[in-house]
Parts: sequence; C-alpha cells; structure tokens
Amino acid sequence: MLVRVMQMRKIKTKGFEKMEKREQMNIVVVGHVDHGKSTVIGRLLADTGSLPEGKLEQVKAMCSRNARPFEYAFLLDALKDEQAQGITIDTARCFFKTAKRDYIIIDAPGHVEFLKNMVTGAARAEAALLVIDAKEGIQENSRRHGYLVSMLGISQVVVLVNKMDLVDWDSKYYQSIVSEYSQFLVKLGVEPAEFIPVSAREGENIANHSKRASWYAGPNVLQVIDGFRKGDIPEKKPLRFPVQDVYKFTELGDDRRIIAGTVESGTVSVGDEIVFLPSGKKSEIKTVEMFNSPQRTKAGPGNAIGFTLRDELYIKRGELMCKPQEESSVGKRFRANIFWMGRSPLIKNKKYKLKIAASRTSLRLVDVVSCIDATDLNTITGKQQLDRHDVAECVLETTRPIAFDKVEDIECTARFVIVDGYDIAGGGIITEALKSDTSITTEHVVRRENHWDSGLVKLSERENVFGHKAKFILLSGDSSCITVAKKLERKLFDAGFNAHYLSIENLEEGMDSDVLDSLDKRDEMVRRLGELARILTGSGQIFITASSNLDRYDIEILKDLNKPNEIMTINIGNDDKFMINYRESYQDNDFIVSDIYSKLVEESIIPDYSI
Ligand code: GTP
Ligand code: MG
Repeated sequence: MLVRVMQMRKIKTKGFEKMEKREQMNIVVVGHVDHGKSTVIGRLLADTGSLPEGKLEQVKAMCSRNARPFEYAFLLDALKDEQAQGITIDTARCFFKTAKRDYIIIDAPGHVEFLKNMVTGAARAEAALLVIDAKEGIQENSRRHGYLVSMLGISQVVVLVNKMDLVDWDSKYYQSIVSEYSQFLVKLGVEPAEFIPVSAREGENIANHSKRASWYAGPNVLQVIDGFRKGDIPEKKPLRFPVQDVYKFTELGDDRRIIAGTVESGTVSVGDEIVFLPSGKKSEIKTVEMFNSPQRTKAGPGNAIGFTLRDELYIKRGELMCKPQEESSVGKRFRANIFWMGRSPLIKNKKYKLKIAASRTSLRLVDVVSCIDATDLNTITGKQQLDRHDVAECVLETTRPIAFDKVEDIECTARFVIVDGYDIAGGGIITEALKSDTSITTEHVVRRENHWDSGLVKLSERENVFGHKAKFILLSGDSSCITVAKKLERKLFDAGFNAHYLSIENLEEGMDSDVLDSLDKRDEMVRRLGELARILTGSGQIFITASSNLDRYDIEILKDLNKPNEIMTINIGNDDKFMINYRESYQDNDFIVSDIYSKLVEESIIPDYSI
C-alpha cells in the first residue's frame, strides 16, 4: 500500500515537472482604439484551443439570448469576470498555448499600469503585436505605440494589418500601410518581423493561411510569434552574483569569511577566477557553501548561496561578483528609461537613492532626453523634470561608481528602483553606459571655485609666513594609519609647522539621524571631509587625517573636493591606488612617520632644518 502511494506521488511530481518546463513568452497587443486588439486576442485564445471548455459556446449563447452579435472581444470580458471572481490571476493577463510554448498576453488596458509594469519589471513583454485597421489606416496611437515599443526596448515586433475583410482584401490598403508604417518604424530603430494582412473577426491569417489574400505568401500570426526568440537562458549568460552580505565566522579557529547572495545569472565553480565590481578586487572561489545541504562545487541561477575565497579580501555588501572575461560595466553615468510614480517630481539637483541589484547609492538626474505622459502617451518636449506618470529617457549619475549591465544584455543588473525619502518613486532600465569627462563632483568644484569669495591674503603669502606649503595628507590602510597620522602631526608641530590632525569620526557630529543610519553616511562623511580639507589647506595648514576604510573612489572624490589645493595619499599596506605605500611588514610606526616626514622634505612641502 505504502509503495503504491509513493509511486503515485512520483508520477504526479513528474507531471508537474513537465508542466513547469514549458517555455513561456510574454507578449503585448497594442494599437489604436477599436482597431481590433481584443478581437485578435480572442481569436488567438479560440483558435489555439486555449479557452476553458464550453466557454466559446457559452458566450455565443449569451449573445444570442440578448440578441447581440457575437464578438471575440467578449471572450476576454467573460474570462476577466471569471478571474475577478476567482481572484487568482492578474486581470490584465491571459494565456494561450501553441505546440512550441505558452504565451502570456499582456492586454494593455490602462497605459499607466502597463507602463509601470513594463518599466519596473513586474511584467516585461518580450514581443509586441501592433494592430492597425486596414480601412482606417495609421492613426495617432499607432505611432505612439510604435514609439513606446521602441522605448521599452521590445525588439520583436509584428504588425497586423487588421479588418482586411472591410477593404475586400485589396492589397493596395495593405501595401500603403506597410510602406508608411515601416518608414516610421525605421526612424525609431524598430524592424518588424512581418506585416501580416489579417481579419481577426473572421479568423483569417491568425492561425490559418487565408485563401482571401492570395497575394500574400508570408507566415500567419502564430507562425511569426512562434518564431520569436527567447533571450538566452540564465545559465548561459555571464555570471552575476550581487553580494548581499559578508559573514565572518570567528568561533573555534574558524576564520571563514562567507560572501553570501543569490546567483542571478551564469554559473560558478570551485577554482574559478572571479572579480568584484566596482572595487576590482580579484580572487578565486575556494568553496561553495550552502546551508543544510550536501557539499557542492558549483552554483547556478536562483541558488541562494555563499562562497569562500582563496584570498582574504575585504568585500563590501553591494558589490557584484563576475568572471574576469565577462565583467559588467562600471561607471557613474548612464542612460535609462524611467517610469516616475512619485508624488513629488524627479528634479535636478536633488539627491535620490538608487537601488540596483544588491547595491545602494545616491543618484542625481542629469538630463531628460525625451519624455511621454503615460496617461495619454503624448510626447512632452523641453521637459527638465519628471512628473507623476511620466515615462522618460534620462541621463542619471550616481555619486560613486556602480556595476551594471544594459537591459538587452542582462536584466537583473540593469533594472533599478529610485527611492525618494522613504518611498519608491520610480523604476527604470539602463539602456546605455555613458562616458563623461565631468562628474557631479567636478562640476560642483568648478562652480564652488568660481564663486569662492577670498580674503585679501593669498595662500602663497601664508605659506611664506608659516614657512611650509599647505597640504592635505590622507592616510589609509590598516588600523595603524590612525596612530601614524597622530604621530606625524606631533612631529610636524614640534618642528614648528602648522599641522592639524582631524579624526574622521568627529565629522559624524551634527549629521541628521536619517543620514547617520543610512547608506548615505559614508558619502556624506567623504563629502564633509573633502570640503573641510579644501578650507583647511586653503588656510595654509598641513591637514592630516586617516581612515582604515577608503576605496579608490573615495580618494578620487577627496582629491577633487580638495582642489585647487594639493593632496598626498599614503597607504599602510600595499595598494597601488595610493601615491605612497608602506607594506604592513614594516610594522614600525615611528619608521613610517620619519619616512613620511622626509618625503615632505623631498617634495619641498617643509624645509629641511637638518641642512
Ligand atoms: P479598444 O479596446 O476599445 O481599444 O478596441 P480594440 O482594439 O480591442 O478593438 P476590438 O477588438 O474591441 O474591436 C473593435 C471592433 O472592430 C469590434 O466591433 C470588432 O468586431 C471589430 N473588428 C475587429 N476585428 C475585425 C475584423 O477583422 N474585421 C471586421 N470587419 N471587424 C473587426
Ligand atoms: Mg479592447
């Protein structure tokens, strides 16, 4: 008996696995009002035998009872009523099957919902059916929808020239739409797979080959969509592993550091070389760790998993683990399509928070390239801010570099969310990495220096009186850097120089509590430190500070913010991003202090009294 139950279960599980394995594709049907979108969908459901049994007959019977002509569009309403009662399925979606795969139709009932879903990734269409009425021809919405499809990056498009029965299947109507609409689409960079003459109402060229259009030898609608490609399966794509957390085990001699997260795409095995971005730190996978699971050597998409590395690296949460030959982009500026749903507009010169994969950073709007209002799909020109329900192509910039991909390459690292205060106010997709000679920081510094109101005493005059040059000395590396910094201040001061040490921790004072508790804290500390360095070096001092935890981007920002004054960066440990490096093996702080002192002499920052 027991055996029989087990066998049954097995079979059941097998069946379930089979169902799960069928490929799915999301398609959207768009077009001008009344051009036949719902009829096309109704036909697709009916002609592929995807309707619940008896549904077609039931709706037809209902129509004849009410003396109304039957419409395929009614099928959708009937299904939606049913779904609304069952409250199981999103009412904007319905399904049909072909031998090849299952299709989920996103019937875009309200543009706002549809666009929001598309841009934020709740429902992403992989292909679009654009419906145009053969008799009415190309209308305003036909153009707007074409634009939308291109903006959302849907590259698989088929145009249905519908209601051919109304023009007696005259190819002239079809041809004129083909030539006019393809010219329009070319400008948008959209190349439709096919223009198909159809009659949705009569079921011609949807699932069959219509005898009415003897002049058309191309494929029908089902053939075209079955021919659309799915993107690469996640296993085949480059490795993307956003680091969610780093756990350090210290008990009983266990000194493992586990990098934890979920593999979003690609695969990775023990022994693979890996690189963390944006830091650029490299190592090799030593072990694959999975809670409560047998030892394994490989991980793939969807695995929530941990890794230990061959080298002991300081990796921060939010970094992206990739393989060296398949690195993501790293940068601060990018082009993106955004859907804005915030109560307050997205404006320039305001700081927002960007969440992308596991990383969080601050973000600013640099430029609005083009914008459409999602409620009526009107293009709004000359806009420099985004209001609620605007969909726009924008240029954005983060404070520190982030690792990301273009949406057409890898979606999980191209999608982001914008947080305004505590609310998710927008979502978007990155379409292009942008290079820029300037950054928000350098632009700020140029502006600041242009408006700097100086006193009557020049820095060179101060340097003459003080007997040394002004300099910002920044120490980093292991924790001894703080001791070294303090000793350096003492030594310089005792020698009669105007040296001043400041602990970075002091800068936390007076910070708003919401900044202190947030991920902005670090950015704000660096910003304060840089501005302060500019002021103190401007007053002719040797300004010294130390932190054990600065990355190359912090240093770049500090260099910029201290401009036009000079900086010297020193690292205790070996790291080529610093001007001067002391290997940890020296250990002797006093030696390092004396050595820095003589470097200052060498560079004529301070005079050499020993001569
Ligand atoms: P909205 O959702 O209101 O934008 O309309 P729609 O694009 O979904 O159009 P729908 O499918 O509701 O069709 C509009 C009208 O056109 C209906 O009366 C349909 O019967 C009719 N229609 C649709 N396809 C055809 C066709 O191929 N031939 C003819 N003659 N009429 C059609
Ligand atoms: Mg409709």
